Amino acid sequence: MTTPYRHEPFTDFSQKENQEAFKKALKTVNKEWLGKEYPLIINGERITTDAKIVSYNPAKKDEVIGSVSKATKELAEKAIEAAATAFETWRYTKAEERANILFRAAASIRRKKHEFSALLVKEAGKPWKEADADTAEAIDFLEYYARQMIELANGKPINSREGEYNQYIYTPTGVTVSIPPWNFLFAIMAGITVAPLVSGNTVVLKPASATPIIAARFVEVLEEAGVPKGVINFVPGSGSEVGDTLVDHPKTSIITFTGSREVGTRIFERAAVVQPGQQHLKQVIAEMGGKDTIIVDKDGDVELAAQSIFTSAFGFAGQKCSAGSRAVVHADVYDEVVERVVEITEEQITGNPESHSTYMGPVIDAASYEKIMGYIEIGKEEGRLVSGGTGDDSKGFFIQPTIFADVDAEAKIMQEEIFGPVLAFSKVASFDEALQVANNTEYGLTGAVITNNRAHIERAKQEFHVGNLYFNRNCTGAIVGYHPFGGFKMSGTDSKAGGPDYLTLHMNAKTVSETY
Ligand code: SER
Repeated sequence: MTTPYRHEPFTDFSQKENQEAFKKALKTVNKEWLGKEYPLIINGERITTDAKIVSYNPAKKDEVIGSVSKATKELAEKAIEAAATAFETWRYTKAEERANILFRAAASIRRKKHEFSALLVKEAGKPWKEADADTAEAIDFLEYYARQMIELANGKPINSREGEYNQYIYTPTGVTVSIPPWNFLFAIMAGITVAPLVSGNTVVLKPASATPIIAARFVEVLEEAGVPKGVINFVPGSGSEVGDTLVDHPKTSIITFTGSREVGTRIFERAAVVQPGQQHLKQVIAEMGGKDTIIVDKDGDVELAAQSIFTSAFGFAGQKCSAGSRAVVHADVYDEVVERVVEITEEQITGNPESHSTYMGPVIDAASYEKIMGYIEIGKEEGRLVSGGTGDDSKGFFIQPTIFADVDAEAKIMQEEIFGPVLAFSKVASFDEALQVANNTEYGLTGAVITNNRAHIERAKQEFHVGNLYFNRNCTGAIVGYHPFGGFKMSGTDSKAGGPDYLTLHMNAKTVSETY
């Protein structure tokens, strides 16, 4: 019997001993983890190629975190073949045996928890708190999906009748291609790798090119925990060469992707094409973008509203699909809320994430920096700049948290996903108008409402069309098993990672009827 699932606690960094432990972990990672080279892994075999993907620290752009070998089209095909062969054995392993591998992997990560988080600080520029939460979420996915698989091992109850015994069971689907993002470089990468694995599928993991090192280390953890060769394959590479090859392959059964809307829709289209020799329809699990709104009602608590808006907009520099980049505020409290958010924001430090006092680190790379600075210029035309607005990419990709007030609901910075520390305020005259503005994008991922009005809470539950809706809090930070995560509309397939239905997306339900 396993103990009941509880989410991994967050580290309290106000405690001196935790601060010391984290500083020590950063030292260890700086000395012992950085600068290494990682090969591809296909059928357990280590393959080193001449071409590499180099991972750099976004806070110190010349610092190399490590490098991985880069796969070609041929190697990607080889990885799918290896996964297809391994599937014929792995699919018949016991659910409990697969779950135990995940429990062992979780234990092994816990033993080096701060080192893993320190690697996230270095590889993605996450401040301590965000890195700690990312590692905790990775552990949560392992613990939660392992338990869920044990529960699903005998299927779900259905009716039987006289002379007939009926069962509803789940069987594994096949080769899964996992394509994770760089923003939750540990948690989502781990989640979309182990969910198919524990469900009895084999996996080809193509890590995010900006953050491949954490993925390489995680694959090592899985191997040590007992994942057999061919069951997990590691093939870094470019999207257009390796990504397309993996998605298009006739032996690929599931593609699980988290990333941009542009790449997600491309995968969705390509996966729909039935290739010669393909004997099934492919399943796509896609988590894409967001343009998430916090509504502040006229009787909402102003301080709570300001703290919630600040956290949602600027946590990990706004680089979350759940980021609250739009604040839609009732005219009665608008000026007060804007003023307080500006005050809170300007008290915070943007800088090197290795320092404990840093609230916000850099954005991920040069392309993101340019894109976000471009949106800031657009914002200057579309609204009133009330905070930030500048960047400095001389050492790392730093952008000040930026706030625009008085932005029209249809403006570009109110409609397009910026994926950076840019917040737009829009004023509304009523709760009706607030809901209408909140729903006026093509996305439907997260949202929050700050209100003390029970009737408005009930209305928002029905009429605010997002996958994750929160009241009187921020709209980021979903916890595995507590806030199953995923969105509507162009935010994706609403597959609800960390939720009770998630693993069944990776399996074929089978009805078995025995007459006696
Ligand atoms: N699950 C994350 C959050 O809720 C986003 O991917 O912030």
